Amino acid sequence: MAGEYVWLVTGSNRGIGLELVKQLLSSPSNIVIAACRNPSKAAELHALSDSAKGRLRLVALDVASKESIREAAQEVAGIVGDKGVDYLINNAGINPGGEDTAFTLDVDVLEQVFATNVVGPAYVAQAFSGLVEKSTKKTIVNVSSTLGSMGADYGTRCTSYSVTKAALNMLTYKEAKEKPDITAISMCPGWLQTDMGGQNAALPVSVGVAGILKTVLSLKPEDSGQFFNFKGERVPW
Ligand SMILES: NC(=O)c1ccc[n+]([C@@H]2O[C@H](COP(=O)([O-])OP(=O)(O)OC[C@H]3O[C@@H](n4cnc5c(N)ncnc54)[C@H](OP(=O)(O)O)[C@@H]3O)[C@@H](O)[C@H]2O)c1
Repeated sequence: MAGEYVWLVTGSNRGIGLELVKQLLSSPSNIVIAACRNPSKAAELHALSDSAKGRLRLVALDVASKESIREAAQEVAGIVGDKGVDYLINNAGINPGGEDTAFTLDVDVLEQVFATNVVGPAYVAQAFSGLVEKSTKKTIVNVSSTLGSMGADYGTRCTSYSVTKAALNMLTYKEAKEKPDITAISMCPGWLQTDMGGQNAALPVSVGVAGILKTVLSLKPEDSGQFFNFKGERVPW
């Protein structure tokens, strides 16, 4: 398996996660662990595995369940062995609050979004850190959003979601500071045509994902702890 890199993508059964898996499999040097809540129902991932020649493995992982994360980490350790996980892509995310605002948001929804968008990636990083540190590339990508940037100044909208992405950005910063051997970044994929982005979004998902991969593949150790977009530009905090 020399010259091969292991990628793990959460939320890989649709949207940005599925497109990441598709584009990664186009390179024979990539081994992809596609993590999703229900592998048995992930028809598009199963269709991809027919032509992947053993380079795609499906693993059950619900980022809102600590038990599921622990079980997935054990299963992945058995699959990848000493190679570890080169690129851990914390992609799974939700926005059930939609366009909610600070004084009207449902705090139960805020808790739910926080559990998936912040607690999930935090525990995934902890559970998989040993595998990441065993690998060659040692990279964690937290899929964030420019909506979580105060500098971008998006005003009142999408508050519960924005709060969680701002928190995820701080998590990225803390991960980078604590483990200098790891390259941890936040990544805004752009406004993309997925179930979350909607069909009126600015760009097809293929364009944003190609940009994410180009940016991630050109990361240098000194980029750790930073917030990038899919064009490889720095996003203000
Ligand atoms: N699309 C955009 O314009 C945009 C812009 C900025 C940032 N983002 C971020 O990009 C990421 C992917 O977004 P998307 O547009 O692909 O969204 P999407 O089309 O709604 O897909 C979301 C994915 O996350 C998974 N997911 C949700 N909760 C999960 C959980 N508890 N455990 C495991 N997987 C879970 C979903 O799995 P199920 O099928 O099982 O529900 C699905 O695969 C998110 O973090 C989002 O915040 C998207």
